[in-house]
Amino acid sequence: MCGIIGIVQKGKILKKKLGTVLRGCLKNLEYRGYDSVGFAIITWNGELVVRKSKGKIDDVSRKLGFDDYDGVLGIAHTRWATHGKPSDINAHPHVDCKNTIAVVHNGIIENYQELKEKLKERGHFFISETDTEIIAHLIEDYKSRGYDTFTAFKKAIKELKGAYALAFIDKEVPDRIYFARNTSPLVIGLGKNIMFVSSDIPAFLEYTNRVIVLQDGEIGYITGDEVHIEGIDGTIVDKSKRIRIVDWTPEMAKKAGYPHFMLKEIHEQPLALSSTLAGIGVEVEKLAEVLASAQRVFLTGAGTSYHATLIAEYLLNNLAEIPAFSFISSEYNRYGKILTKNDVLIAVSQSGETIDTLMAVRRAKKKNVFIAAISNVIDSAIPRESNIAVYTRAGPEIGVAATKTFTTQVFLLSWIIIKSAQIKGSITEEEAKTLYSSLRRLPEYARNVISINEFLAKKIAQDMAGKQSAYYLGRGLAVPVSMEGALKLKEIAYIHAEAYPAGESKHGPIALVEPGFPVLFTIFDDEYRDLILANIEEMKARGAWIIVNTFEGNEKAVKLSNNVFKTPRVQHWVAPILHIIPYQLLAYYTSIVKGYDPDKPRNLAKTVTVE
Ligand code: M6R
Repeated sequence: MCGIIGIVQKGKILKKKLGTVLRGCLKNLEYRGYDSVGFAIITWNGELVVRKSKGKIDDVSRKLGFDDYDGVLGIAHTRWATHGKPSDINAHPHVDCKNTIAVVHNGIIENYQELKEKLKERGHFFISETDTEIIAHLIEDYKSRGYDTFTAFKKAIKELKGAYALAFIDKEVPDRIYFARNTSPLVIGLGKNIMFVSSDIPAFLEYTNRVIVLQDGEIGYITGDEVHIEGIDGTIVDKSKRIRIVDWTPEMAKKAGYPHFMLKEIHEQPLALSSTLAGIGVEVEKLAEVLASAQRVFLTGAGTSYHATLIAEYLLNNLAEIPAFSFISSEYNRYGKILTKNDVLIAVSQSGETIDTLMAVRRAKKKNVFIAAISNVIDSAIPRESNIAVYTRAGPEIGVAATKTFTTQVFLLSWIIIKSAQIKGSITEEEAKTLYSSLRRLPEYARNVISINEFLAKKIAQDMAGKQSAYYLGRGLAVPVSMEGALKLKEIAYIHAEAYPAGESKHGPIALVEPGFPVLFTIFDDEYRDLILANIEEMKARGAWIIVNTFEGNEKAVKLSNNVFKTPRVQHWVAPILHIIPYQLLAYYTSIVKGYDPDKPRNLAKTVTVE
């Protein structure tokens, strides 16, 4: 949902030109939006230069000559359109009437129409269709009434309703970048005589790993050697208490020889799983205890994270015997009314910033529900607003399609639920031991799954690329895996893909099946392994192309299928973590065959910070 980067140096600190560095940082944020790009720089002789255009970073920066510009400070933006179509004019930064102030923004200003009308009456003129442009004019307006830039900014912010992370520069104060955050993410990077402000940490990891994650309502500015942050009530924030050292390395946010981040991230899953395993600590124990004594557990998330909650819901009900209910975070009202202070809500979000999930958390909090967050980003909004936070250790995920963050979420949730089942006594010590040992073996098994299935995924992708639609079917715990597999194919290969419980397929979906229609069956070594064979037969009888994703040794299913993805035979409770991998690979290679960029699927952004 738009990526922002701002850099200010004290003297010439950067070895390269500022335009080149801004471009590089912006590249690390491209996953957040990629329909238009722009920058504003204050040059060494105090000029404000603004360049922007519709298009992706590489094309726009070539066209506009990003690399030719240098200066003391600058801001840049990669956009995911909300107000106003992608166009040169709607691209950020946006400037005021006098071309003195340049603003970049992520989020939505809900009352922008009203403010725009007021500002027009006061003589301001607007050239874009965006909500962002009003911010530049509002600050300009307060300045024209005699306020200094920071005071004018604070006054302007008080008038804005909605979600924003924004940064701006003022030619008349050429040594600082101002910023504010409300709901949309923003972080400060602290270097030596160089400071950064950005939507996400990977943007500036190459320069510093010392960060402050801003909180809602915070406002301030950075100079080359100073960070000033004020809270919502005007109190100055003590930065020393807020600085975090992140253990991500710049290499983690690079492709490391892979053609795409998504492929790299699929291959990183064994490592991401081992790191998550190594990171299991007291918080996990605490959360397991909370769950074990909960009357009911609700789970929420969006997209892939929602699919992770469905797996956890299944495990909570069946292993820990704790009544569990999962819901899509934008559908809070499904259970909102019945939530009470005796319930626990688990909010799952890799970014920790998805607005739908954050809003569900906030609404549940008002009802004194105990909130537990599962996230991949330390100090992000959802963990911060929760009673307890447990982190996956997948490292930064840049590809828009979630892969390693899904498997690590499911891994962590499974561990926590097994622990709570053990505490509750709904499984024996022996059973718990077996399950932990299955989980411990998953990093190694995940490596096998990749090596066994990658070639086949490439091969199947050739035919899949020519299909319009596909079904992903499974039973029990394999249903959420099917849903996640279908989402992957849909979002990066643009093939209509739907998932159903296999038993449900004959109640409607089968009507679409004709010769060659791809139907992918996920089969675990569980109570459904034979029952599902009848569903395969039903599809086969209609000429469907049967692809089976099953454990080694399931010969009955193999006999009925045209292609088989094989995974090691593991306890079915932990099987989802392995069986999703072939589907990730299939979606990736199908996208490649179709000539798309799997890292940047159309119309999508990695972190969705608008409701
Ligand atoms: O950061 P989150 O886990 O909260 O993100 C939720 C969804 O936006 C995300 O999982 C999305 O569905 C992925 N792009 C799917 O691959």
